[in-house]
Amino acid sequence: MDVIIAMADDKAFTSLSDSTPERKNTVIKSIIQSIIYATMDTTSVSIEWALSELLSNPQVLGKAQEEIDTKIGTERRVEESDLEQLPYLQAIVKETLRLHPPGPLLVPHESTEDCVVSGFKIPAGTRLIVNAWKIHRDPRWWDRPLEFCPERFIKGQGSSSEVDLRGQHFQFIPFGAGRKVVSWNVTCQVYPPPYNCSFAPWVRMEGPTFSVSS
Ligand code: HEM
Repeated sequence: MDVIIAMADDKAFTSLSDSTPERKNTVIKSIIQSIIYATMDTTSVSIEWALSELLSNPQVLGKAQEEIDTKIGTERRVEESDLEQLPYLQAIVKETLRLHPPGPLLVPHESTEDCVVSGFKIPAGTRLIVNAWKIHRDPRWWDRPLEFCPERFIKGQGSSSEVDLRGQHFQFIPFGAGRKVVSWNVTCQVYPPPYNCSFAPWVRMEGPTFSVSS
């Protein structure tokens, strides 16, 4: 917050520093709102979806419980350093982001120059909105696309075991792709630990099942 307020008065940013106090406040509030949506909302929404899917799919919940009980035991919480040895938990995270990408339409982009994509002429200045939600459910890429099936991502077993979420496989782009993809350095450091470690304890929950849809 201090940095943003300082920037608003910095002469290097003339369009902002020369504006009225009201406009500065609006810009500062917009930046803070973007940070909240981009970091906390995306993460918390996907944790909620993961928990909902686990409750709806007791067999997946059972396998996750078994993995944690076998690899970690029942005496302590899952730590960030444990994540490497929890491939099923990682697959649950991926499958949640596939079916319920927190940014279903990613973020709008605009082409800076004329180009041709798959035979379509795209003039400069065209606004591009990518429907990741639809792509993530496309049967041309996904076997039984509407099913919550983390096994598809298990290395050496699943039909999508080689599909990664860093924007290199265009059928799975919850973080976007290309130059605007969520920085993997940032995401690796900030996103997986709270995500995995905060929902992992709930994996041991027991109770009635219910179904979810989006
Ligand atoms: C489940 C978690 C998250 C999801 C699904 C997600 C998704 C996205 C998506 C779809 C974009 C737009 C990419 C594009 O323009 O094509 C984006 C941008 C961005 N995200 Fe995330 N994000 C998540 C968490 C985070 C976190 C935790 C941080 C930082 C701590 C972060 C930082 C950013 C930044 C800085 C950008 C803008 C990148 C740029 O425009 O160069 N994201 N995110």
